[in-house]
Amino acid sequence: MATTKHLIAPSVLAADFARLYDDIQMVNNSEADWFHIDIMDGVFVPNISFGFPVMQAIAKYATKPLDVHLMIVDPDRYLKSCKDAGAAVITVHYEACTHLHRTLAAIHELGCKAGVALNPHTPVDLLKDVIGDIDLVCLMSVNPGFGGQKFIEQTYVKIKELRAMAAGVQDALLIEVDGGVGASNAAKLLEAGADVLVAGSSVFGAKDPSAAVQQLKHIAIG
Ligand code: DX5
Ligand code: ZN
Repeated sequence: MATTKHLIAPSVLAADFARLYDDIQMVNNSEADWFHIDIMDGVFVPNISFGFPVMQAIAKYATKPLDVHLMIVDPDRYLKSCKDAGAAVITVHYEACTHLHRTLAAIHELGCKAGVALNPHTPVDLLKDVIGDIDLVCLMSVNPGFGGQKFIEQTYVKIKELRAMAAGVQDALLIEVDGGVGASNAAKLLEAGADVLVAGSSVFGAKDPSAAVQQLKHIAIG
């Protein structure tokens, strides 16, 4: 049995918004590595979460990097606001970017790490010609928009395909998996090659959220 050097990013979407400060402190004091921040516009996805003022409030107390997942159309318009609200990683959706190469350059110009998220139906091959410009790929393992959904099994294949595609071109690429991640599938995801596990309901819905983070962080792989 071994452990890997993966990162855990609790998704604030599943926090108790009326007690947000307490939940931020839980993440600060846990073994989590990042805060995962889900921004939704009600257009790209059929839900609205929260925007940059709330993110800025989180950034004020967060002692760990903010990993921002923009589920919005035309994200270019908001990259600067996102950076100013405290983002360390800005992830845009492949499906929302007409000029992805330009968007990635704009994120880097702001001094942030650039991520690209892929919906479950989007093949990883579509990133082949920009993989060298991407720091992180977020593989959606549910249809984006809501927490607490069932994990889509095809994700394991996509992780392996992506790792193979990045080999020798972008070896430092971080592969993030988002949606339906918890103790039951974490080991298999890490074995497939995932680097960052986003966990919403499996962390904030746990009796002891900090222990749930610890469990994900120390998961043993075969
Ligand atoms: C879904 C979001 C996820 C969500 C994950 O659109 O991108 O980050 O919060 O929640 P769980 O872990 O509950 O599936
Ligand atoms: Zn997300």
